[in-house]
Parts: sequence; structure tokens; C-alpha cells
Amino acid sequence: MLKVYRGELLHFLADPAKVALEDSYQYIEDGLLIIKDGLIEQVGEAAQLLSSLDENIEITHYESGLMMPGFIDTHVHYPQTEMIASYGEQLLEWLENYTFPFERKFSDFEHGKKVAEFFLTQLLEAGTTTALVFGTVHKESVDAFFTVAQQKKLRMICGKVLMDQNCPDYLSDTAQTGYDDSKALIEKWHGTERLQYAITPRFAPTCSTEQLNKAGQLLAENPSVYLHTHLSENKAEIAWVKDLFPDSDGYLDVYDKSKLLGRRSVFAHGVHLHDSECQRLGETDSAIAFCPSSNLFLGSGLFNLKQAQAFDVNVGFGSDIGAGTTFSMLSTINEGYKTQQLRSDKLSPFQSFYLATLGGAVALDLEGTIGNFTKGAEADFIVLDYNATPLMDRRMQHCSNLSEKLFILSMLGDERHVKATHIMGERV
Ligand code: GUN
Ligand code: ZN
Repeated sequence: MLKVYRGELLHFLADPAKVALEDSYQYIEDGLLIIKDGLIEQVGEAAQLLSSLDENIEITHYESGLMMPGFIDTHVHYPQTEMIASYGEQLLEWLENYTFPFERKFSDFEHGKKVAEFFLTQLLEAGTTTALVFGTVHKESVDAFFTVAQQKKLRMICGKVLMDQNCPDYLSDTAQTGYDDSKALIEKWHGTERLQYAITPRFAPTCSTEQLNKAGQLLAENPSVYLHTHLSENKAEIAWVKDLFPDSDGYLDVYDKSKLLGRRSVFAHGVHLHDSECQRLGETDSAIAFCPSSNLFLGSGLFNLKQAQAFDVNVGFGSDIGAGTTFSMLSTINEGYKTQQLRSDKLSPFQSFYLATLGGAVALDLEGTIGNFTKGAEADFIVLDYNATPLMDRRMQHCSNLSEKLFILSMLGDERHVKATHIMGERV
């Protein structure tokens, strides 16, 4: 079944940091997106493609707006939805005081389903169509999340948290039960429709060496699943890891020793990395989730994007809800731009929209499947609206090129500027 959409259209073909800018994207002022059975069939100039279509075919015309691939959120916690905007603490106290008590409730499958329903609706309204998502320690939290994601036909990655030390008893598993529960969840969900599993040790401080090693064993046994954790977010956290793992050569090395690095490994934050750690992430093809909203909110620091790029580390954007304060990737880009300004670095509009779409897909090893309009990719796409607010509308009247347009969208935009979200070609 064909579905055809007409309008202004943008998608990325490569990383603008690695190729000539004009080779990194395709932009068509009046384009057609032709979708067959939920997958991209063809994209091109309307003037050229219209004549090839059956004249009876219905065309949805988005006359004012920009069609682009759905945003990809490479790090987010669905169980933290209801504790977003919790005041006053930095990472470790924030976890103790707010996060852990909220996560306790996710032993209840029905509670998980309710929150997952709300969370996924918020994501879709913000134009995010794929995310790499933390559950809680309870396997019910992942069952609930995947149940709702499957109903919505989404491409989502989630996993049960592993933590067996330095956490409340009510949130603790053991190396063995964590392994067994994760394995059962992999068998149940990984590869079911568009759902994939991520082995999810919370972070080094809450995982014994035995638990991290078991996570590495499970990853080796299931090479197509993901590894998702936190890394070098906060200075007190890093000092704690040094105390807890005196034999390791730095934070990343704790994970490396347990064989947790690789093409499908995603490390959230990486705000305070040494060059040698970036090099190791690059050579193992691991990815970093850059979470500027969270890094500012928790006062964690300013991610060094240039450093990651210098070592060829894959990077995507993460909202990191509930430490991040927005579901919107437009707002996340906005915060990302400001973090780079504070480092005296420039985050260009092309670079940031790349990171929010194709860059996220590359970070998740899903290029060709999502993230751009390449033939055969899943047709998860959005339409951004320049006129949704009077201020953006007015500012756009003084805009002279695509770069400026993207910049304005990301500085002034949020959920209000997402006119439509499409999943496998269908508007939701
Ligand atoms: N490090 C360990 N757990 C968490 C969490 O839930 N949020 C953030 N931002 N960092 C963490
Ligand atoms: Zn996080």
C-alpha cells in the first residue's frame, strides 16, 4: 500500500562533521515522500515524481512545515516521568532523595503501564519516535513498557536495571537474579516486532564486579542486544568509582574489564572523560548519549563534543528524563547549543539536527533502519511547524537560509512545533 506525503523535506546522509556540508544532507523545498507498506520507497522532487504516480493516489500535502525523520532519544528513563523537576540536588543525592523512591512503584505492572502510556504519548508529541529507555530493577517495568510500545507499533529499546549494591534493599537484585531476569526478558521481547532489549547495569557504583561480569557474559551470549549504562557524569560519582574499583584504570575501564564496550553499547553522559577513554570508546565503536538538559539541571558539567568527535566516538542526543527537564529534542538541542557556547565551541544547526536523527540512529547501530529517508528505512517521520507560535512565526519572516531556519526551530521550538508524528507512515 502506497502513502504519499508532499512538502518541504530534510534528512541527513552523513555526519556534517565528517563530510562536506553539502554532501551531508538532502533538502527539497517541494518534495515527495513515497511510502510502501510502512517503509520509505522513494524521496525526491515533487515536480519529478508526481508524474510517475497513479493519478488517483491520495497525497497528503503539508504546505507549511518541514518533514524530517523522527527524533531519536538515545538515553531516557521512563520510570522517572513523574519525578521530573525535582529540586536542588546533584546526581548522588538526587538519586537517593527522589529517584529511588519513585522507582520503587514499578514493581507493579499496572503502574508501569500507566506511566509508559503517558511517557510514550509525550515522546510522540515531541516528535521522538525511537528511544533507548531505562526501566527499573523490576522485570515488570520492562514488560509494561514493551506491552505499551508494541501496541503503538514503535521501535523502542528498553531493559531492566541491574543493581546489587549501594542502593535500597527494595531496589536491589543479585548478580544471578539480574542475569536470569534479563535473560528471560531478552527471550520474551528482543526482536519482537520493533522492540529490542538493552542489558542495563545502572552505573558502576550500584553494580558489583560479579554483576558487571555477568552482564558481560549475557552480552556475549546475545550479541544483538544492547548495553546501556551511565558513565562519568558527575565528579563525586567518578571519585566514588575510583574508591570502589581501585584496580581499574579509570571509570570506563571498570566496564571495559567486564567486556561491556562495543558497537551496541551506549554510555550516557561521558561529561568528564580523559582522551584515553574517548579513544577506547572510539576504537570499540561504542556510543555516548549527550544529555545537555540533564547535565545542566544536575550541574554535572559541559559535555565535550569536540573531544568525542576527535576520537570518532558515535554520539546521539538524550533527554535523560527525569534529570533532563524536557521531552523535546528541539529543546534538548537548544540546551546542547548553550553548553557548547559555555565551552566556546559552536554546535551548528546542521550538526545538531544530524545528532537528533541520523546520528542517534548510528549511535544505536540502526542506520538504514531509522534516522533518515533512505530506501527501505522505516517511515517514522515528523512535520515541524514554523508557525505554531507567534514568536517563531515572526522570527522566520527574517530568515534567509536553511541553516538559520534550523537554528531558529531549535532555539524557539518545542512540542508545540511538532505538527504531526508518523509511525510506519501512519499519522498518530
Ligand atoms: N546515574 C545512575 N543512575 C542515574 C539516573 O537515574 N539518572 C542519571 N542522570 N544518572 C544516573
Ligand atoms: Zn540517565
